[in-house]
Amino acid sequence: MSNPAVYVPSEEFVSKAHVRGIQAYRDLYRRAEENPEEFWGEVAEREIHWFEKWSRVLEWNLPFAKWFAGAKTNVSFNCLDRHLATPRKNKVAILWEGEPGEQRFLTYQELHRLVVRFASALKSRGYKTGDRAIIYMPMIPDLPIAMLACSRLGIIHSVVFGGFSAEALKARVLDLGATLVITADGGFRRGREVKLKPAVDEAISECPSVRDVIVHRRTGGDTPMQAGRDHWWHQIDESATEDCPAVPLDSEHPLYVLYTSGTTGKPKGILHTTGGYLTEVTATMKWVFDLREEDTYWCSADIGWVTGHSYIVYGPLSAGATTVMYEGSPDYPQFDRWWRIIEEYRVNVFYTSPTAIRALIRQGDHWPNAHDLSSLRLLGSVGEPINPAAWEWYYRVVGKGRCPIVDTWWQTETGAIMISPLPGAIPLKPGSGTVPLPGISPDIVDLQGQPVGTDKEGYLIIRRPWPSMIRTIWGDPERFKEQYWSRVPGAYFTGDAARRDADGYYWVLGRVDDVMNVSGHRLSTMEVESALVRHPAVAEAAVVGKPHEITGQAVCCFVTLKKGDWSHDELGRELRQWVAHEIGSFARPEEIRFSDALPKTRSGKIMRRLLREIVTTHSVSGDVTTLEDLSVVTRLASQQEEE
Ligand code: WT7
Repeated sequence: MSNPAVYVPSEEFVSKAHVRGIQAYRDLYRRAEENPEEFWGEVAEREIHWFEKWSRVLEWNLPFAKWFAGAKTNVSFNCLDRHLATPRKNKVAILWEGEPGEQRFLTYQELHRLVVRFASALKSRGYKTGDRAIIYMPMIPDLPIAMLACSRLGIIHSVVFGGFSAEALKARVLDLGATLVITADGGFRRGREVKLKPAVDEAISECPSVRDVIVHRRTGGDTPMQAGRDHWWHQIDESATEDCPAVPLDSEHPLYVLYTSGTTGKPKGILHTTGGYLTEVTATMKWVFDLREEDTYWCSADIGWVTGHSYIVYGPLSAGATTVMYEGSPDYPQFDRWWRIIEEYRVNVFYTSPTAIRALIRQGDHWPNAHDLSSLRLLGSVGEPINPAAWEWYYRVVGKGRCPIVDTWWQTETGAIMISPLPGAIPLKPGSGTVPLPGISPDIVDLQGQPVGTDKEGYLIIRRPWPSMIRTIWGDPERFKEQYWSRVPGAYFTGDAARRDADGYYWVLGRVDDVMNVSGHRLSTMEVESALVRHPAVAEAAVVGKPHEITGQAVCCFVTLKKGDWSHDELGRELRQWVAHEIGSFARPEEIRFSDALPKTRSGKIMRRLLREIVTTHSVSGDVTTLEDLSVVTRLASQQEEE
């Protein structure tokens, strides 16, 4: 390929960075490769407070890892208590802006007080280490407060993104066996109240395990409460105390379960544990975001996804940062809302997604140009490959050519950033996540596990365990083994395709499985298909991701109908709405195409590969010899041309 532009960090940036210059990176990387356990042991000792130390850094029983097992620590203690004896006591921990414009500045001391009070209330209701709670809340500070209160007591939490439907919520409550649900009446989005509590009521009417629902009052709208089961947060706070110490937990105690889409219709509960996770999210905060004490740091993700867990809540608070949280939509009331926030709070480090960048590019440069963005010194990107044009815009128009961009590759399963530039050490190439972080050993291989060599496309794997790695799929260790550890012997299979260039830079190309990436949100084709076939009119459905200018991919559905007299226009609208209702509004299909048949192999498997080709290239050139009825494909492809 032609030589892409390379951006070298400025001397000014390098001179103040945590890791200075390429040689410093190479030394760190080599040291970690030579003795990974010693390396991670040192990082854990430096970054985290431990009540009791470990005797062995790693117990590796492939594919099950235990990091710092036997050692005792507590995530909430590390994110709060330990800062109180330092000058961070009165530093702003969470700087929050609600969509309607309210502000809350919570110092470490105040955040600690609120977390302790809420934890004491949970404790007095009998909740304890090992219990499970579902958290379904808008982007308000009470969401991290709930997470930190759970982790203080060792209650395993699962945050469900507020955009998920009652159906999706129910599946998660049941799978987790949660006894507690923490929610809010609603939140604000694009100037309107989005209610949450009705979805909780609908979901848990069929979840007998749930004993209590705690409801935070955010919007003040009408909220029916079920006596005995539902409690207002502010009412239980009346009997809360300020005495609720953090429980010393085993390093391998489960911290949270985060559900994500896999290759089947059933979401997988990714389990993260305590000590290793916290060690790695804290260290990567410093390496990748080059965090400084005085920084105002903002990650624009939603806490309902892993990015928010690791890089709005746990990473920044453990590192003692000031983390910005914004409740609402970037286009409300106008397209400059984010630039206003950066200007107003003098944000120094800004972390967002390629989809958001592309959506903002479309609105025009005058929005960012109307604001003083000179406080920015570092930009980040996550969630999907960033196309070089979007990268260049981000670099020039937002960063004014002064700010390195860290394109961070990682996954819900990895817990922390794995491949990313260290901004004061690694020259940047737009579109590449560049190099692995110290302690991370990726490779690119074929299906036999053989490295493919320079510039060749292959499967991205990770050869060695790392502290923040997924421990298992909640309740399904077999699926954990099968999904991640059976494709390439001895290695973790990421599900991504990638290429490595002659400089050792990684270029992640996208998923190789039936997982779509829509606006940086993971969605399985099977999940959408299962939702579609639950509709009474649908006989069969096949779903593929279709390239989309803004969201990266969009959901495209091929549907065959049961006998009947259907209006395609009306039914198309209805099915899009149906999927949004069954899964969540972010899953709403872009397109529904009706067909009298779907392309299948002779053994009856739907050939999604052909459908993907049809929506991408508008024709089929690949191998069709296993196809049962070739005319189906010709018809589908010509249907496309008519449009
Ligand atoms: C998948 C993981 C990690 C937080 C957000 C998504 C894709 C993620 C990048 C990047 C290219 C990326 C991969 C990965 N992805 N970041 N910087 N460059 N692709 O978490 O929902 O678990 O999705 O997102 O395909 O496997 P997730």
